[in-house]
Amino acid sequence: MQGNGKFITFEGGEGTGKSTQIKLLADFLAKKGVQTVLTKEPGGTEVGQELRQILVTGDPDKMDAVAEALLYYADRRIHMTKKVWPALNNGQWVLSDRFADSTVAYQYYGYNKKIDKDILQDLYNLAVGDFKPDLTILLDIDPKIGLSRSLKKAQGMQVKELRHEGRALEFHENLRKGFLEIAAKEPERFVIFDANKDIETLHKEIVEYVSNRFGLK
Ligand code: TMP
Repeated sequence: MQGNGKFITFEGGEGTGKSTQIKLLADFLAKKGVQTVLTKEPGGTEVGQELRQILVTGDPDKMDAVAEALLYYADRRIHMTKKVWPALNNGQWVLSDRFADSTVAYQYYGYNKKIDKDILQDLYNLAVGDFKPDLTILLDIDPKIGLSRSLKKAQGMQVKELRHEGRALEFHENLRKGFLEIAAKEPERFVIFDANKDIETLHKEIVEYVSNRFGLK
């Protein structure tokens, strides 16, 4: 059982500015006196960091969608049990840069539905049960723009986390459509923002939405 905390997830393709926006929201919430934990998938825990290295670096074809789904779910299970649920039980708000919708978008839609979607639901039930985010913020952008942002950002990185960026544009277009389809099925959980706006404008829109949704003064 979760306490009074809220679980808010950020989702989207590559280069949407999620990491920037989630950090800005965490700072805003902290200023409002909300105890906030900022985390991510994959890699929100120590073991998760090791899994992240395996998942996001190297040859795009070094494993298939099924193997990826299993590893993302291993990361997620550790993340939930060791970090997310304990924090929610403490009344903290948890903001996660990606969660299970990414697995459906990337491993199912991205790979052109080559894996059985029911298996992903089974993995969700096993690892997460009937728990769901209170809110999912989807940042939507044309993948051509997102990918070029993402490649630019990676230039300064020592370890290039570009395994998924190395896939064809079609993969990224599929997963964008996937995210929009997933969001349309659960309109009460999702809110979609146009990620092509400048950082400040987008931040203001997100803050306004979150404040209204959760009654923050
Ligand atoms: P990030 O770059 O947003 O931190 O995400 C890491 C990469 O992992 C990104 O390319 C999306 C991918 N990913 C999946 O393919 N499936 C998942 O379930 C998750 C959480 C991430």
